[in-house]
Amino acid sequence: MDLKTVLYNKKDGIAWAQLNRPDKLNALNSKVFADIGQVVDDVAADDGVRVLVITGNEKAFAAGADIGEMSTAGIADTLKFTDAGTQVTERLADLGKPTIAAISGYALGGGLELALCCDFRIAADTAVVGLPEITLGIIPGGGGTQRLPRLINYSIAAEMVMLGGLMKADRAHQLGILNRVVAQEALKTEVVKFAEQLMARAPIALRAAKTALRKGLNVSLKDGICIEQDLFAMLFGTADQKEGMAAFLEKRKPKFTGK
Ligand code: COA
Repeated sequence: MDLKTVLYNKKDGIAWAQLNRPDKLNALNSKVFADIGQVVDDVAADDGVRVLVITGNEKAFAAGADIGEMSTAGIADTLKFTDAGTQVTERLADLGKPTIAAISGYALGGGLELALCCDFRIAADTAVVGLPEITLGIIPGGGGTQRLPRLINYSIAAEMVMLGGLMKADRAHQLGILNRVVAQEALKTEVVKFAEQLMARAPIALRAAKTALRKGLNVSLKDGICIEQDLFAMLFGTADQKEGMAAFLEKRKPKFTGK
């Protein structure tokens, strides 16, 4: 892998991708998206990785798309940039393993949109989230107008998109944008604890759960229930279902193998 803007390492089943453009508050450009794409492919291919964590530094998760690079762009350049970004973020959102955004400081614009592509957002109390694009004369272009109102109340999402204000961690937690908020120094421990809980679950069941949740958001209730039913039945072909139920009946903890 040839990563230029992301620091990447894997430890104890967790892959850590740290955005690394500190002088630009981790502003996202095409290189960052290309690097995240490589990370997603690696995580998908590596059976030893059970959870992907995307993080930034103490000051910023990411303060949005790179305004310097966008400022002179025309329509064609912008379509190319958003197409490339969307291909990567959709792959991230579709990854068959759980993903966590670990957020300190600013998660703005494309930074928040990237975090919204993860299944979970765990933040330090220093986190500040928002979609300030409207203050630049544009709108979010990385899924913010679509993912946010699917996650939280429409009016609050509309306020965030149309006024572009910034929101502190506590409020974002109350609204359900953030799953957990902890002190800055406790962030990594909290993320590892959360990831360990996920890794104690059966991987194929987790994948099925994620598919059912995600696909169900975009179809009718009836079609969503069909999707769930098929995935539910499919899990009865796994060794982990047999083990999970045997362990319950034998009053012991299950030992899942991912098969
Ligand atoms: N794109 C490009 N560069 C950015 C950036 C972005 N989205 N966000 C921050 N930076 C750069 C700044 O230009 C500055 O670079 P410089 O030192 O070369 O001047 C550096 O990162 C530090 O940012 P600065 O603004 O000095 O930090 P701050 O603590 O005063 O303010 C923010 C932090 C996040 C409030 C402010 O940087 C900001 O509003 N950023 C833009 C947020 C935004 O609109 N995002 C949506 C983009 S579509």
